[in-house]
Amino acid sequence: MTTAVAEPTGLAPLPFETYRTLDPAELDARIRAVKQAMGPELLILGHHYQQDEVIQFADLRGDSYKLAQQAAASRECRWIVFCGVHFMAETADVLTGPDVRVILPDMAAGCSMADMADIDAVETAWAELGELIDTADVMPVTYINSAADLKAFCGRHGGIVCTSSNARAVLDWSFRQRSRVLFFPDQHLGRNTARAMGVPLDQMPVWDPKLPMGGNPAEAIERSRVILWRGHCSVHQMFRPEHVAQFRAKYPGIKILVHPECTMKVVDAADLVGSTEFIIRTIEQAPPGSLWAVGTELHLVNRLAQEHPDKTVMFLSPMVCMCATMYRIDRPHLAWALENLARGTPVNVITVPAETARWARVALERMLEVR
Ligand code: 13P
Ligand code: SF4
Repeated sequence: MTTAVAEPTGLAPLPFETYRTLDPAELDARIRAVKQAMGPELLILGHHYQQDEVIQFADLRGDSYKLAQQAAASRECRWIVFCGVHFMAETADVLTGPDVRVILPDMAAGCSMADMADIDAVETAWAELGELIDTADVMPVTYINSAADLKAFCGRHGGIVCTSSNARAVLDWSFRQRSRVLFFPDQHLGRNTARAMGVPLDQMPVWDPKLPMGGNPAEAIERSRVILWRGHCSVHQMFRPEHVAQFRAKYPGIKILVHPECTMKVVDAADLVGSTEFIIRTIEQAPPGSLWAVGTELHLVNRLAQEHPDKTVMFLSPMVCMCATMYRIDRPHLAWALENLARGTPVNVITVPAETARWARVALERMLEVR
């Protein structure tokens, strides 16, 4: 039995400002109290890039793919508090039934990459492509790091969502049905994945949404197999091939492990590439005494270094590359969101409009079925 009834009460929500001034121990105690009071009615999901002060409270943690699966499989809870970024909370809302509602503790936790493609620009690109090639033979594929209306666009056009852990399987699925792919918004994940499948670079034009025909001559589009949206992750683009070279020179035998949102040159210079879940598994399974430089978000790399003191895990950049938007979710926001929820004044509830959700679900469910 749970003691808290998280039903809207008509009361005004508790204001956030007072939470900023509370000390960490008090905030932790308050977060624990709500978790205990709400029991299985509440599910806290946490992405691997979250800070330690937040991830410690996650009931389940994962990469984008695993978190989408966990949301889709949630049966007992009525509320998901998503410690991650906006597109992840939207995805959870789309994949859960009407009895489950999703909260993002800070609405400013967006994703700069997701913002690099919007529905108007994608619709325009689709129409422009249709002037040159048969779009019935183009598979639209959106990285999960995108707004729900772009996922809905893919759903409506026979397309699909991918994450960094299944991009290869999704492209294989796409090419079994159509001869070209429009991949958005991350050019690097698209390029790294398609090139590993043998697609030549001259068949992967980059589509710049600010330019007519994406800035491409007609022959480049006609020759294309994968049209790459001009988007990137501002965190992962900070890793450079020179950093790889510096680590190799300083630490002979070191292994370089990077996320596929890194540029092609970095991926080429690395030993291993994969999603955050892959990165974690690789370090867990590495032999004691091994040396690693990891190219992904700082909080995850620091956590891996702490959790594996028998191995040396270093951050693959002299710069601090942390995801400023993931970092928006902190103890005060989590405590504020949870206490409002428990008292019946939920804040920051993420609701994807029904028609968008319907088609986004089609594209997400296709992804969850792909093997
Ligand atoms: P994964 O969680 O799929 O590895 O992606 C990392 C990321 O950038 C999330 O925004
Ligand atoms: Fe977006 Fe990059 Fe942050 Fe992931 S790490 S949420 S892709 S900005």
